[in-house]
Amino acid sequence: MNFQLTEEHLAVQQAARDFAQTELLPGVIERDTHQKFPAEQIKKMGELGFMGMMVDPKYNGGGMDTISYVLAMEEISKVDASASVVMSVNNSLVCWGIEKFGTEEQKEKYLKRLAKGEVIGAFCLSEPEAGSDATSQRTTAEDKGDYYLLNGTKNWITNGGTAGVYIVIAQTHPEKRHKGINALIVEKGMPGFVVGKKEDKMGIRGSDTHSLMFTDVKVPKANRIGDDGFGFTFAMTTLNGGRIGIASQALGLASGSYELALKYAKERKAFGHYLSEHQAIQFKLADMATKIDAARLLVWQAAYLKEQNKNFVKAAAQAKLFASQIAQEVTTEAVQIHGGYGYVKEYHVERMMRDAKITQIYEGTTEIQKMVISRELLRV
Ligand code: CAA
Repeated sequence: MNFQLTEEHLAVQQAARDFAQTELLPGVIERDTHQKFPAEQIKKMGELGFMGMMVDPKYNGGGMDTISYVLAMEEISKVDASASVVMSVNNSLVCWGIEKFGTEEQKEKYLKRLAKGEVIGAFCLSEPEAGSDATSQRTTAEDKGDYYLLNGTKNWITNGGTAGVYIVIAQTHPEKRHKGINALIVEKGMPGFVVGKKEDKMGIRGSDTHSLMFTDVKVPKANRIGDDGFGFTFAMTTLNGGRIGIASQALGLASGSYELALKYAKERKAFGHYLSEHQAIQFKLADMATKIDAARLLVWQAAYLKEQNKNFVKAAAQAKLFASQIAQEVTTEAVQIHGGYGYVKEYHVERMMRDAKITQIYEGTTEIQKMVISRELLRV
């Protein structure tokens, strides 16, 4: 097996690293404190091709592979996980979903703008009573001939206030349960669509999470993705890919906090020696680095399988399960190594520790990943 990155991969990784250091690092603490969306930075990420990395260039995408995407996601997440979740949802859930399953008209109308970052996308599945239990959709899309009448509420929607294009999952034929669900493309500004309250979150505070309300919103039939009743399969398939993005976000939080802790351990003296000369710290660093390397291998494996058009469902869920777990552990250890400094905002690691928690919750909780993995194990 060849673990060598290509010249192109290394160039993408370097470009993302440079961008994160020069454009995202300044202001990241302020954005976290004041829950400020990184609007300017996201615009630049669009111009640099980070918002539609894997999209075919004919739809304004970067035409890159999934390995390039996870490399960029890790680098951006090392510095600003709020920016990287915007990137992940736009790339993995919205662009990929429309490119893979959308009509040519949808690609022309929506994908071209999403891939350039001219407009941001949101993926709307979770509801007040249907987060993990995704088949129990209460939002309805009533078939009215040439349009659907959309009614309901969505919760915890990433990019909820800043997006322009929303993929909304809704029930059309309740008697058919998950086979009666549709995925509809909804535009901001459609009459009856209201962006609700912004959530005041523990982490990824620069990202913009809202509830959304739909009251008799008329969505043209042309905006349905796939055949009638395809919505649940669409959501599950898209989330399989999305989990690779969130796994790389978790990986970046772990590796970013590790790098800060390593640097600090080499600079700070205690009891007459640098922290890095104390075995207690060396052992922590050894554990952190080993967990990060193991998580990276799982992330790369999932990306590789997806790229090869092989079944990556288990690999993606395993990567997310493991990377999100070690992100918790590694960011917590990074705070510990920093001691009192780690507990204050200036040193970044406390934010990373708070940010890491969401990677065990969104795009499927830890428990959901285990359900997905065991389903795949038992299916064979
Ligand atoms: N990939 C493809 N298809 C899948 C699938 C997967 N991973 N998991 C289930 N399916 C399909 C099944 O094959 C089945 O289809 P058929 O009947 O045609 O065979 C159908 O879905 C229903 O399967 P189940 O009966 O097993 O469904 P279930 O209700 O028992 O649970 C589940 C399935 C895996 C738990 C699913 O509900 C799930 O993944 N839930 C979590 C959803 C989630 O990730 N929510 C997070 C919100 S999105 C988000 O966070 C985005 C953001 O803003 C950052």
